[in-house]
Amino acid sequence: MEIIKVKTLNRIYSIYIGNNITEKLNEYLKENIKDVKNVILISNEKIFGIYKNKIEKIIKEDFDFKKIILKDGEEYKNIDSLKFIYSELLKINAHRNDVIISFGGGVIGDTAGFAAATFNRGMKLIQYPTTIIAQVDSSIGGKVAVNFENTKNIIGCFYQPHLIICDPQLLKTLNENEITNGLGEIVKYGLVFDYQIINDVLSLINTYKNDENRLFKIISDEKFKNIIYKCARIKSKIVEEDEFDLNKRNLLNFGHTIGHALEKVVGFKNLNHGQAVALGILCALDLSLSMGYLNKEIKKSILDLYDILKLPKFIDKCDVDEILNALKFDKKFVSGKNKFILLEELNKPVIYTDIDEKLIKNSIINLIK
Ligand SMILES: NC(=O)c1ccc[n+]([C@@H]2O[C@H](COP(=O)([O-])OP(=O)(O)OC[C@H]3O[C@@H](n4cnc5c(N)ncnc54)[C@H](O)[C@@H]3O)[C@@H](O)[C@H]2O)c1
Repeated sequence: MEIIKVKTLNRIYSIYIGNNITEKLNEYLKENIKDVKNVILISNEKIFGIYKNKIEKIIKEDFDFKKIILKDGEEYKNIDSLKFIYSELLKINAHRNDVIISFGGGVIGDTAGFAAATFNRGMKLIQYPTTIIAQVDSSIGGKVAVNFENTKNIIGCFYQPHLIICDPQLLKTLNENEITNGLGEIVKYGLVFDYQIINDVLSLINTYKNDENRLFKIISDEKFKNIIYKCARIKSKIVEEDEFDLNKRNLLNFGHTIGHALEKVVGFKNLNHGQAVALGILCALDLSLSMGYLNKEIKKSILDLYDILKLPKFIDKCDVDEILNALKFDKKFVSGKNKFILLEELNKPVIYTDIDEKLIKNSIINLIK
């Protein structure tokens, strides 16, 4: 098992990363949190449906087990779900020292995390990510939030977890759409911070190149853990340097400026987060090219990579002006300008705030079939 220590302003916590470490959940809980009695698992119908027998049985061996099960989907990352969690917590008389385990992808992590941050002015929180996105990104760094009036993550706060448990073997039950969703975020780490991560993915893919189910094979391979570990380590270091997203943490938003606008316009249901980010990355690459950075060969090799990883390169139909308008509602829109992360070179990101709207528009037009 790999352990990453994350040092933040109010808390130093560990990320445990290992295949099948779920078996040792109770041990890790006792090691990291004193005098635990009640454990409240927050999950959704789908994930709990798959892992109910395993996780409930393990927790019940040592603790009082309670559960709060939400409906599945980004559309439930909202205030109604928060209200539901708060009333369930009241019903079970949850105390500050009880532990909330947020067991799921980014939606559950963000929603349950915000509930843990606010109920009783803050409860013990374990992030237990079950998607690639959650394991490499959303569970780390304390950003917790819900969406409001079709605006993403607009109600939220920073609340660092007390522990993160990351078992890549839980990814085996993801469907192909969710695997590509997560691979989009991994590509982001590779392009912005460490290209070796992309080489690692390609080398794993190569092992299974003739296998129709190669995406399932790579995420089930024990070596995939090392890719998760590398991304989680990058995220942790950035969080330590810029916990409150004032500077370097912005770099994690590579592909997100237009990605978030696409999610808003195309709809969370039709485009998942990773796919939206993957498309946003293509816009960021075009904008980088327009600024005289990178070169067309690099863009071409990334498009080839997208084919291998089954990432989207186009959207069907879309109103460009609507996307441009949606950019104005992004949290990265400050003083009338959007913030874009571009690449001067591979692994050499730069933050831009004054990009000509025509260039932005062209980069979006390039996405439309
Ligand atoms: N807090 C942050 O720093 C941060 C960073 C990135 C993304 N996010 C947020 O994360 C969310 C996206 O997260 P996501 O991509 O994990 O989506 P998600 O949480 O909706 O999960 C995707 C789907 O996979 C299912 N699922 C989860 N684990 C599974 C498993 N092991 N087996 C089978 N199915 C499983 C879920 O039920 C869901 O249907 C967005 O809301 C985004 O805003 C937050």
